[in-house]
Amino acid sequence: MNRQTDAFLHRAELTQAAADETPTAIGVPLPHESAALHVSGEATYTDDIPELQQTLHAALGLSRHAHARIVSLDLDAVRAMPGVVAVLTAEDIPGENNCGPVLHDDPILADGEVLYLGQPVFIVVAHSHELARRAAALAKSDEVVRYEPLEAVLTAAEAKAKKQYVLPPLHLKRGAPAEKIAQAPHRIAGTFEVGGQEQFYLEGQVAYAVPKEMDGMLVYSSTQHPSEMQHVVAHMFGWPTHSVQCECRRMGGGFGGKESQSALFACAASLAAHTLRRPVKLRADRDDDFMITGKRHDAIYEYEAGFDDAGRILGARVEIALRAGFSADLSGAVATRAVCHFDNAYYLSDVDIVALPCKTNTQSNTAFRGFGGPQGALVMEVMMDGIARELKRDPLDVRRVNFYGVGERNVTPYGQTVTDNVIAPLTDELIGSSGYRARREAIAAFNATSPILKRGIAYSPVKFGISFNVPFLNQAGALVHVYKDGSVLVNHGGTEMGQGLNTKVAQVVASVFGLPLARVRVTATDTSKVANTSATAASTGSDLNGKAAEAAAHTIRARLASLAAKELGGTPDEVRFEHGEAQANGASMPFAQLVNAAYLARIQLWSDGFYATPKVHWDAKTLTGHPFYYFAYGAAVSEVVIDTLTGEWKLVRADVLHDAGQSINPAIDLGQVEGAFIQGMGWLTTEELWWNRDGRLMTHAPSTYKIPAVSDTPAAFNVKLYRNENAEPTVFRSKAVGEPPLLLPFSVFLAIRDAVAATAPDAAPAPPLRAPATPEAILDAIEAIAATAALTAGTRAATSGGTSGPTSPEPAGAGTTA
Ligand code: MTE
Ligand code: MOS
Repeated sequence: MNRQTDAFLHRAELTQAAADETPTAIGVPLPHESAALHVSGEATYTDDIPELQQTLHAALGLSRHAHARIVSLDLDAVRAMPGVVAVLTAEDIPGENNCGPVLHDDPILADGEVLYLGQPVFIVVAHSHELARRAAALAKSDEVVRYEPLEAVLTAAEAKAKKQYVLPPLHLKRGAPAEKIAQAPHRIAGTFEVGGQEQFYLEGQVAYAVPKEMDGMLVYSSTQHPSEMQHVVAHMFGWPTHSVQCECRRMGGGFGGKESQSALFACAASLAAHTLRRPVKLRADRDDDFMITGKRHDAIYEYEAGFDDAGRILGARVEIALRAGFSADLSGAVATRAVCHFDNAYYLSDVDIVALPCKTNTQSNTAFRGFGGPQGALVMEVMMDGIARELKRDPLDVRRVNFYGVGERNVTPYGQTVTDNVIAPLTDELIGSSGYRARREAIAAFNATSPILKRGIAYSPVKFGISFNVPFLNQAGALVHVYKDGSVLVNHGGTEMGQGLNTKVAQVVASVFGLPLARVRVTATDTSKVANTSATAASTGSDLNGKAAEAAAHTIRARLASLAAKELGGTPDEVRFEHGEAQANGASMPFAQLVNAAYLARIQLWSDGFYATPKVHWDAKTLTGHPFYYFAYGAAVSEVVIDTLTGEWKLVRADVLHDAGQSINPAIDLGQVEGAFIQGMGWLTTEELWWNRDGRLMTHAPSTYKIPAVSDTPAAFNVKLYRNENAEPTVFRSKAVGEPPLLLPFSVFLAIRDAVAATAPDAAPAPPLRAPATPEAILDAIEAIAATAALTAGTRAATSGGTSGPTSPEPAGAGTTA
């Protein structure tokens, strides 16, 4: 604990000093622009906006069947509940009853049929949040909604067996993988599974809709995608887009869960507000949020690989079945990213990748930090581990021989050449600093004499593609105002969800004008200021909006430079903006004075800016192209200890080295790496979603769904940024950092596997450990190993006439089915 506190204090001091001394703020570990507001509770979230007079509150009545026909709806009892003002159903929607982002298969309210347990069927509007919820709870009554249950398909496995998909399967094949696998000197084949994950943003889904004159709507929404909220609300009413305005000051976390799925809440609040011509707020209770919204796609895998004596993969095949839920939502793009991240950091000459977006009667799974990338790469790391155990080699060495090369072995399965590969030197640095080799030996020695506690260590790398893999989304706009007193207001199309986007954009604009950060303020995201924005997603927020804001600031600076050259002498190109001044020709004038002079000279002091990512293209039919502008890299070494009697475990140490390019703000980037690491660790260890046989999600609150707590942070958590400027001219040569580090804690899961494997009598086969590696999963794996060992010993005993010799060679199949 002390160690961590010291590190924190040290960082805080650094940060304060930096803020005082460094007017040009790029590369400086400044605090998050809202940090003081966050900790004092003053930061305004959607639910904190002072309520207008006559504001009403809404709650949703949810379906209690996973799949059923609605036989009758009798809402009189709901209307009669205390404080209820109105109850609305699908019939009250004037335009389109859909809030789906891509396909139109996402009803706002169920119409005739419910497709999952938890689907909203009606909206209650009442005088208070509590009264609305109480009335909405009548949805549980048979008197209110009568159903005729239909057959429900709940899991990806069932849907796959029925070939029931929300979108056609994706298939990417290169070379002759089947032949290469068949001819290879060694091969593994197996299955694997990983669970889903609830975004668990601390601020739940919420929207506050305020009706405006002439059929207009202002929606305050906790959303990563204000433009999409504007569209779905307009469609719901059959209005043109200009009639709806969406604003988001900040979110208390989104993690992908508010990219498309804020839509239902924005629509429901707006529908009620327009119907009643009164402001309406809809704030989902945590349990309802869990029951209604989609999560990370869980996945089941079948894999196969052929490899040589060094572990180099000669051919590989995988099928990834993703549970998409009842509708398409973003599953097509998620599946595509899974396909494009199966390779992770490795060159696969001959490969066959299939992704199945399985249609089930469960919540519609959606974006979650990594967006399918983690699901694609995880199985590859499990395969690497399997190969290493098959060959009895250090998994690090197997990974190394498979790394993408530099100038050779560098074309991804989808045809993009990797030109910025730093995985080998980054790994060298991390292996050295973490003392991996020596610790691996020490752990083996420890395990040899420790019957109950077992330790495990693992390294895992990440290579993550940056850009939306739908090319047209890679665009952004910004609006910069310089006021007469020299203060600057920035608006851009990105949204702030805690990741520090506004801080970085402010740093960029401050540095263009040579101003201290305090002179630049970033306002709420607002569809009436910047139009047609993309979601703040795919980690592209600062790449896109930073560039757009930089462009706007450059336009204004060029105008100011012309004037400054006239006033100070020299040419406009020679004018420098530094330390709050314009400097040229050995003279200088304060920025504010220059700005005021520009105003008097009738020079435009505000500008828009636009950015479109170059180079990206994608052929969705062949799944080939150049979907990513560049790649971000990282690696981690994690060490765990498990208790083989209880299945409990602890992460004792993690060493992380991550490539954020030339960081705009190392404090924020480190925070992103640490947060993503712990969040990814939660996905693979403690966070378990569990539906009962009726399709009811039983883990719908923190009491049963366990996200990591601060106490799960390892005592030794050595997180560093790798020095590496972006090879592409991104904003100040930085790299996106929001999602890639979520893949780093693969090393935690693999370390647990390593510890589990140590319970096997001899050099362990790949242990059959599923993810999340809960204590139950760990005990299951230990028991399976023990059973296999007993079986093998029995077979040996039978064949060798009862003498128990040294431990047997690997039991057939045990190393290949994980
Ligand atoms: N960090 C915080 N604190 N809260 C969040 O909700 N979302 C993550 C990541 N980091 C998130 C976060 C996700 S899913 C993405 S895509 C990126 O931030 C989005 O922001 P960026 O593009 O500005 O990095
Ligand atoms: Mo992040 S999953 O792209 O919102």
